[in-house]
Amino acid sequence: MKTPIFLTLAIGLLCAGPALAQTDKAFEPGAVWPDDKGVHINAHGGGILEHAGVYYWFGEHKTEGGAGNLAQVGVHVYSSRNLTDWRDEGIALAVADDPLSDIVKGSVIERPKVIYNPGTRKFVMWFHLELKGQGYSAARSGVAVADKVTGPYVYQTSFRPNAGAWPIHLAEDQKDPATSVIARDHKTGQMARDMTLFVDDDGAAYHLYASEENHTLHISRLSPDFQRPAGEYARMMPFADDEAPAIFKREGSYYLVTSGLSGWAPNAARSYVASHIYGPWTALGNPVRGTPEQAKITFGGQSTHAMTLKRKGCERQILMLDIWRPKNAIDGRYAWLPVEWEAGKPVVRWRERWTLADLDALPCHSAATPEATP
Ligand code: GAL
Repeated sequence: MKTPIFLTLAIGLLCAGPALAQTDKAFEPGAVWPDDKGVHINAHGGGILEHAGVYYWFGEHKTEGGAGNLAQVGVHVYSSRNLTDWRDEGIALAVADDPLSDIVKGSVIERPKVIYNPGTRKFVMWFHLELKGQGYSAARSGVAVADKVTGPYVYQTSFRPNAGAWPIHLAEDQKDPATSVIARDHKTGQMARDMTLFVDDDGAAYHLYASEENHTLHISRLSPDFQRPAGEYARMMPFADDEAPAIFKREGSYYLVTSGLSGWAPNAARSYVASHIYGPWTALGNPVRGTPEQAKITFGGQSTHAMTLKRKGCERQILMLDIWRPKNAIDGRYAWLPVEWEAGKPVVRWRERWTLADLDALPCHSAATPEATP
């Protein structure tokens, strides 16, 4: 039987989705990135969740001026099938009007990340929360949950993670509250600022956060519903002063990119590798390749997320950086760069303009799992 032409067209349109996957459109690090309405994308300190063939970009919605670094609106979400054309899906998690709410307008909501829990079929968002009017002293983790990927996310709770739990492999001399921050905070929970989430191949999820007055990152396993710490965690690089963690797995090894501690001002990135999620982590040095100035300030950016793409039988990573504009927060820029490999080390080079075809041309690791779009 011949399919009528109008039906063929209708099916074609339905299957095409919001934007066709294409490889010729360019990423332009540091430029204005317009969304489908022509407005610069407002998703800073963000992360990407791939779900059912669509990419969702969650990030901090900033507003104009210096006060635009505070949460005036909430967490913004965009969708894309090709990583270059982004549709504005609105505010995934809105700030509250209620002055008693932890996420009241004027609090700090940073580095939101979303993962999907197949058991509960819920989308779970974690973010760094600072309570209104308290600067950065609260150092808490916030959790919000949604039934639909774009939200609305419903705020659940906030806390300092891992109260009452000691990290694995902790040296005995670190258990003295007089000399150790981790011991000082043992009862009330560990400080948690810059953060990301990671789901391992076995389905276990982890929360990475800058702790111990920002001197040590922790990696903390999440409960089966991904909404709480499971109580099992490890310190990553003790006293190495890392933040802005971006993690990915490649050929069975875990790679981590971080920054040093200099607030909104850029500094030199670092990279690490481990063969076990709880370490030990080996330093691989500054992943930036380029001029000394580019290496010193990571092209003016700070890491926020590392995305793994499976395309044409290959797995490759894109490192996402934020170029902060703290005096006019809404004008913050994004620098996404393909991860290249040099003697077993992940490295990034500045590119004014690059496409997914350029990414495809890089040497690859063959993907173990079926490929996804784009
Ligand atoms: C940076 C951090 C950002 C933000 C900023 C505030 O160190 O990476 O996410 O918290 O400090 O000064």
